[in-house]
Amino acid sequence: MSENNISIDQIVSLSKRRGFVYPGSEIYGGFGNSYTYGPLGIELKNNIKNIWWKTFVHNRADMVGIDGDIILHPKTWHASGHVGGFTDPLVECEETRQRFRADHLIEDQLGEDVDGWTVEKINKFLVGKELLSPATKKPTLSEVKTFNLMFSTQMAKTSEGEDSKAYLRPETAQAIFLEFKNVVDTNRVKIPFGIAQIGKAFRNEITPGNFIFRRLEFEQMEIEYFVHPSEWEQLFDNWIADMHQWCELIGLDNAKIHELDVPEESRAHYSTKTIDFEYDFPFGCKELYGCAYRADFDLGNHQRESGKKLEYRDPQTNEVYLPHVIEPTFGVDRTILAVLCEAYNEETLEDGSTRTVLKFKPNIAPIKVAILPLMKKDGLPEKAKAIQEKLQIFGNVEYDEGGAIGKRYRRQDEAGTPVCITVDYDSLEDETVTVRDRDTMEQERIKITDLFSYLGEKYFQ
Ligand code: GAP
Repeated sequence: MSENNISIDQIVSLSKRRGFVYPGSEIYGGFGNSYTYGPLGIELKNNIKNIWWKTFVHNRADMVGIDGDIILHPKTWHASGHVGGFTDPLVECEETRQRFRADHLIEDQLGEDVDGWTVEKINKFLVGKELLSPATKKPTLSEVKTFNLMFSTQMAKTSEGEDSKAYLRPETAQAIFLEFKNVVDTNRVKIPFGIAQIGKAFRNEITPGNFIFRRLEFEQMEIEYFVHPSEWEQLFDNWIADMHQWCELIGLDNAKIHELDVPEESRAHYSTKTIDFEYDFPFGCKELYGCAYRADFDLGNHQRESGKKLEYRDPQTNEVYLPHVIEPTFGVDRTILAVLCEAYNEETLEDGSTRTVLKFKPNIAPIKVAILPLMKKDGLPEKAKAIQEKLQIFGNVEYDEGGAIGKRYRRQDEAGTPVCITVDYDSLEDETVTVRDRDTMEQERIKITDLFSYLGEKYFQ
């Protein structure tokens, strides 16, 4: 249970019931950690990605975007250090053949934080100690081994073997580094500037879980921000502030966001400094986003491995240098989980009944407005549909004519719709409608001709 007493089970249950997130491949009994975003989920996801792009690309003069491939040249992953260093320590249960994260088991059972330790050091530490398999509750575990988290595949155009091996990207960042020179050469960008990208990433996580928190296939919204090496510290701080503003923009309570200065032994292999943004999820305070100072790790490695110059010439001073990189990174799926947890409320009303309501900020709400004709006859549906058409400029506007009006309000509360508009018989006479606010449940009578400016000012600035 979280501070506001929400359990992840409530979020999972609502997500399935209302079509935010379904368990994937369910008719075949489900498949590992696969999920499908349903009709409400995809609206929420698209809203988040669109606001992110507007905030960090369109609204800034120092940012551009790209869209790179998931399968990049395999040399990319050798140069980036992912083939050699993107690993987790695992143990295998010798009875059930199930695999587990060794570091997690050791922390849970032996109280030792082995983050950043080599496999040899962990195995030495385990000598004379008993680590139990979660499957058998007995010491049936193998030695600790390293496991590379990248999914690999074979390319058809080359012969079988190591040469034909390609990888699904484990981070979107690398396409940005590969295209750095192209972007500089074909755009009017001047350092400091950033390149943004949104897309899928894949990791063969040993222990996926906590619903959509840790997945094998997920989406990232990433920025690689190129700076002069002397300027990184101040610009890094600016990005931390911008990331907090983003959290506020999508309705996350900054009191539930905690910065963690990640210690060296826990940082990714490419990072000189990382601040994680941790969020109070119902299952604990866990990483939501991160901001890493990657220095010239990536451009330096790609320059060396490719033999192509990736340096930048300052147009004013003519100084030639390899830019350093600040990387603010945002997981889309974790954002969705965080805003669902933040918005979820179960309320007891004055009459003793209860309602489940998602108090999304209107900018991310999957349905912006619901139009509800009181009856399915007498010209009310036609009137309601005409209003729906006019308001669609605000985004997804739903028309719902089924069931008692109270039930329809509850359905919209659960979907997180900020405002409902009811069209009744008076509407036909005096051209007014009832506008009901999701959070206060207060109702106001508004002229149809004033609706657009009323909603625009109150909900959708
Ligand atoms: N390019 C830097 C990078 O990939 P990361 O901290 O490994 O850094 C960035 O990942 C973000 O991607 C995380 O902060 C998190 O939001 C999300 N993420 C990472 N692994 C994930 C997983 N297995 N499932 C869902 N989201 C994940």
